[in-house]
Amino acid sequence: MTQTQEKQKRAVAQAAIQHVSIGNVVGVGTGSTANYFIDELAKIKHKIEGAVASSENTAQRLREHHIEVLDLNSVGELPVYIDGADEITEHLHMIKGGGGALTREKIVAATAKKFVCVADHSKLVGVLGTFPIPVEVIPMARSYVAREIVRLGGHPVLRQGFITDNGNVILDIHGLQILNPVELETNLNQITGIVTNGLFARRGANVLLLGTDNGIRMIEI
Ligand code: 5RP
Repeated sequence: MTQTQEKQKRAVAQAAIQHVSIGNVVGVGTGSTANYFIDELAKIKHKIEGAVASSENTAQRLREHHIEVLDLNSVGELPVYIDGADEITEHLHMIKGGGGALTREKIVAATAKKFVCVADHSKLVGVLGTFPIPVEVIPMARSYVAREIVRLGGHPVLRQGFITDNGNVILDIHGLQILNPVELETNLNQITGIVTNGLFARRGANVLLLGTDNGIRMIEI
C-alpha cells in the first residue's frame, strides 16, 4: 500500500465520523480502512451506545478501544454501517470480501439504514471485476460450486489456508465480466453451497467517501 493510499484511508475514516448517529449503535466493517475508522470512533466512544462488528478481527479491535460490542440480534435497525470496499463504481455497487468477512458484512449492511463506504482513490472503477469476486462456500460444496462457477465463465481459485469466521472456505472468482452486477449477484446466490457472494449491488452503498489527492470526494445516492 502506498503512503498516499494510507493517507486517504485515514482521511475518509475521519470524515466518516460525521455520519455516526450520536446516542445510537454503529455498524462497523472490516479491513484496514475500517480499522482507521475504529481508531476515530474510539475518540467519540462516550457518545455512542456501542457497535456491531462485521468480523472477529473488528470485534477485537473495538474491544481493545473499550468500545462495547453488541450482538446484532439484540439491536434493531442500525442507523449507519461504515465499511471499506475492494472495488466501487459511481453507482455505488461494490466488490467486497478481500478480507474474507463478506457474509457478516452483508448481514450488518442489510440491517443498516445507511451504508457509508470509505475508500481510497484506487478503489473507484468504471466496471467491477478486475478484483476477483470472493464467494463464501460450505466446505463440502467446494467442488460443486467451483464447477458451477466455471459454467458461468469464471475461474474459481481456492483461498489457501483461509477459513472464515463462520467456518467456511472462500473461492475467489477471476475472469467474470460484470456487466450487470445486480443480476450476477442474484445468479451467484442461486448456486447451492454458496453462503454469500462478494457483490454488493442489490444493497449497495448510499454514500461513498473517496480519498483523493485533492481531498475527499463524496458521492451520494
Ligand atoms: C473485507 C472487506 C474490506 O472492506 C475490503 O477488503 C477493503 O479493505 P481495505 O480497507 O483494507 O482496503 O470487504 O472483507
